[in-house]
Amino acid sequence: MKKISLIVGARPNFVKAGPLYKELEKEPAFQVEILHTGQHYDVNMSDIFFKQLDLPAPHVNLNVGSGPHGKQTGEMLIKIEKHYLDKRPDLVVVFGDTNSTLAGALVAAKMGIKVAHIEAGVRSFDMSMPEEINRIIVDRISDLLFIPDEYARLNLNEEGISTSRMFLVGNILMDTLSQHMNKIIAMEKEVLDKLDLASKAYGLITIHRAGNVDDIERLRNIITIIKKASEKTPLVFPVHPRTQSRLSELGYIPSNNVKLINPLGYLEFIALLKNSLFVMTDSGGVQTESSFLQVPCLTLRENTEWLITLSMGTNVLVAYNIEKIEEEINKIIETNKIKGPCIQVNTIKYWDGKTSERIVNVIKESFEGDIV
Ligand code: UD1
Ligand code: UDP
Repeated sequence: MKKISLIVGARPNFVKAGPLYKELEKEPAFQVEILHTGQHYDVNMSDIFFKQLDLPAPHVNLNVGSGPHGKQTGEMLIKIEKHYLDKRPDLVVVFGDTNSTLAGALVAAKMGIKVAHIEAGVRSFDMSMPEEINRIIVDRISDLLFIPDEYARLNLNEEGISTSRMFLVGNILMDTLSQHMNKIIAMEKEVLDKLDLASKAYGLITIHRAGNVDDIERLRNIITIIKKASEKTPLVFPVHPRTQSRLSELGYIPSNNVKLINPLGYLEFIALLKNSLFVMTDSGGVQTESSFLQVPCLTLRENTEWLITLSMGTNVLVAYNIEKIEEEINKIIETNKIKGPCIQVNTIKYWDGKTSERIVNVIKESFEGDIV
């Protein structure tokens, strides 16, 4: 029996862990635990994802909660180490780029436990982002690097990381989307009716990057962008808790055409994304999900770790340029009138809903000693 520990802590980790947990559970030779650091803890930032994604309640919750990076990561290190000294897993799996990802990988690597990183090699080349620091460190100390696309391989090659540790498996978020699509389709009318929205007649917004919301000037700039965009089409804005705090500090009152709502569960959020005319976001996951759903994405950042979505034509890096954003929205509205909602994209290799299957095959081989 091999003991595998999946480390999660924040919203994007839960969404990525869902399909992998399910796939690992099919293997009688694996004993799988979910370790939740407690980085996210509100019901609609945490519990709801376990319920909706058919995950069991976490086997362990370290309840670390919020705090500055040092304190939050430090507490995770102490508590994860204590747990692993007791449980001694054979493999630790970490997802993406959050502080929970970093802490899990660091503890495991120092204890000589094999580490697998899902979404390895993804780079924004922006070291002011805490996520970029986390990704670089985690990739350097992981044994199995599961890469989503060829850009990731190039990035890791540039960093001198051995190709033998890399496995092109695709993007696991597409597994989550595929597995839950029937439920999403079944509920989409209800979700739209509840918010009084019509399909392809509104834009969706998500903003939460520290660089976008903790810098007041930048946030004011984004508020202006939202106001301008709302003059063209209604907008719906599920607000991340970090953003909620900053907007209330600023005394933000949205214009009439902007619906501010609480963060949504995964199914409701994807139902809204799928039916939106476009999404404006700084989220990593949403850039890729919109690509799969063929929804135009305007990324409110100066860089992206998802170059592949730019090259596929679904995502435009608009940064904070109001004229460019207005121009893109006009184009989307016009194209939608003529051609209907879908934009044409080629499919991306292995973004096909079978990523978790590929990962589990590699993990099995790694235990048989064939690799790493
Ligand atoms: C974290 C990740 C980021 C990811 C995002 C996904 C890091 C460094 N950042 O950012 O990469 O894109 O999650 O959503 O790991 N809060 C609550 N309730 C919660 C969780 C957070 O109120 O359940 C508030 C707290 O005030 C907290 C703030 O949000 O201080 C930020 O939370 P934190 O987990 O530190 O960072 P995120 O911005 O969520
Ligand atoms: N998401 C969600 N509800 C929301 C906003 C986002 O379920 O209100 C999902 C989204 O579909 C994606 C994940 O949360 O799967 C992405 O999380 P987030 O944008 O917080 O983090 P990032 O991907 O930027 O790290």
